[in-house]
Amino acid sequence: MRILILNGPNLNLLGKREPDIYGHETLDDIERELRGHAGDGVRLDFLQTNHEGEMLERIHRAREDADAIIINPAAWSHTSVALLDALKAFEGRVVEVHLSNIHTREAFRHHSYISARAEAVVAGMGSFGYRAALEFLTR
Ligand code: DQA
Repeated sequence: MRILILNGPNLNLLGKREPDIYGHETLDDIERELRGHAGDGVRLDFLQTNHEGEMLERIHRAREDADAIIINPAAWSHTSVALLDALKAFEGRVVEVHLSNIHTREAFRHHSYISARAEAVVAGMGSFGYRAALEFLTR
């Protein structure tokens, strides 16, 4: 099974960025942890980008090279119909992850365009949310 793990804008700053909300782990820490937990036969690919077009084009390519996507769309969750449409064009499984519980935060974070395409949404579990998503997809 090929799983693509996508992280949107500002998540390159994880560990330094508002650690009281997003925790002290970096994206590299999370990648290492997920690779440690991926069983045989599970290939993980990672992309973090601050450029929406790059994210869209990676999702287009996923039509050919991924069976499932785990995505933290970050701020694009709340703004991007284009990201929703790209994920709709992808035919595999999609799980949405947020480190924080977006529903207990500012009102503008309560709605995610992406959730309409996600089979499952994890929010508020911190970095464990990615692992929960990985286990959900591979169990
Ligand atoms: C986030 C929540 C979003 O509202 C925010 O814009 C992010 C990160 C999260 O992981 O909790 O950048 O997706």
